[in-house]
Amino acid sequence: HYKIDLELRRSIIINAGLSLVGFFVTLRMIPVASRYVIRRNLFGYDINKRGTPQGAVKVPESLGIVVGISFLVLAIVFQYFNFTSDSNWLVEYNAALASICFMTLLGFVDDVLDVPWRVKLLLPSFAALPLLMAYAGHTTIIIPKPLIPYLGMDVLDLGWIYKLYMGLLAVFCTNSINIHAGLNGLEVGQTVVIAFAILVHNVMQIGASTDPEYKQAHAFSIYLVQPLLATSLGLLAYNWYPSSVFVGDTYTYFAGMTMAVVGILGHFSETLLIFFFPQVLNFLLSLPQLFGFIACPRHRLPRFDPQTGLLTGTNDGTLVNFFLRIFGRKTEKSLCTYLLVFQGVFCCFCFLLRYLLAGWYK
Ligand code: UD1
Ligand code: MG
Repeated sequence: HYKIDLELRRSIIINAGLSLVGFFVTLRMIPVASRYVIRRNLFGYDINKRGTPQGAVKVPESLGIVVGISFLVLAIVFQYFNFTSDSNWLVEYNAALASICFMTLLGFVDDVLDVPWRVKLLLPSFAALPLLMAYAGHTTIIIPKPLIPYLGMDVLDLGWIYKLYMGLLAVFCTNSINIHAGLNGLEVGQTVVIAFAILVHNVMQIGASTDPEYKQAHAFSIYLVQPLLATSLGLLAYNWYPSSVFVGDTYTYFAGMTMAVVGILGHFSETLLIFFFPQVLNFLLSLPQLFGFIACPRHRLPRFDPQTGLLTGTNDGTLVNFFLRIFGRKTEKSLCTYLLVFQGVFCCFCFLLRYLLAGWYK
């Protein structure tokens, strides 16, 4: 296995180098792209600063397009350095890129056309098609050890249901990031935290395993997560409080789809869902409004008090409001930081859980 290890390490380092380039390209291109989107009237008002001069400024919208394009160029070029005789994984790799690219396009369409949210919900299922159609990997799940005597099998083949699950995962990851939003830096911030956790998970799994196929699956994830992390950090530099650009649904969809694809092809979607716990919570809190039992306004944001500069929770069912209820009124910046720390705590919890349950799987 020594040779595989050397090859993997080389690929990962090349990928890290390309990602670093991606970080600087993103940093450089966002101000340029900002001027272009503003010229075409693609902007948003910073709602949590209403009543202040800052709230009346037009903030360039959809700068996720810069991240999406940089990411795709990197990920495509990376193949050139990593082309070996057994490059079967390139089929799935390119299907993954097609899905991410399609999702970025649909996100940009949404930003420009402002699609009604019921339609929005469906967009990722179209974008996931290239991956679902090309997927030739296994469709089985491993049964936890304590359940094997009862079920009489150690793996369960789900067949087409597994593909349905993949599609639903893509729909969930994209939309759940998109609706856990509305504070400067939150959309990119949560992605950066989760992507970092995914990266740590992959590195740990590669180190702990002797199975080349298993290592390859996690390396595959690293090849996409490193560029995601690097380009997102470039965007965060501008989107952090006070935002000089907004990310748009272009970014939230792109980031959600990339993480879904990585979880599917790296075969760690259960771990991914634990990293997504705050998003799951926000989704559950949002259900009454999403399904129309309670009216759902266009924006579900906290209320800004221009006198104190603090945010207060409203009746909308979101994790942001929930946090304001528990921890009291906060500035936008500190509220966002609280939520990101919460996200990080859950990622650590996930590692602990995996460690404790390690004996449950072979
Ligand atoms: C989702 C949420 C919506 C929330 C919005 C904020 C649901 C069902 N939808 O809608 O409640 O208001 O995200 O992104 O939960 N904005 C800010 N400050 C920020 C980020 C965004 O004021 O830090 C505003 C800007 O006006 C920006 C707009 O939100 O132009 C972007 O909204 P968009 O991403 O189109 O909203 P949705 O994703 O449809
Ligand atoms: Mg959005």
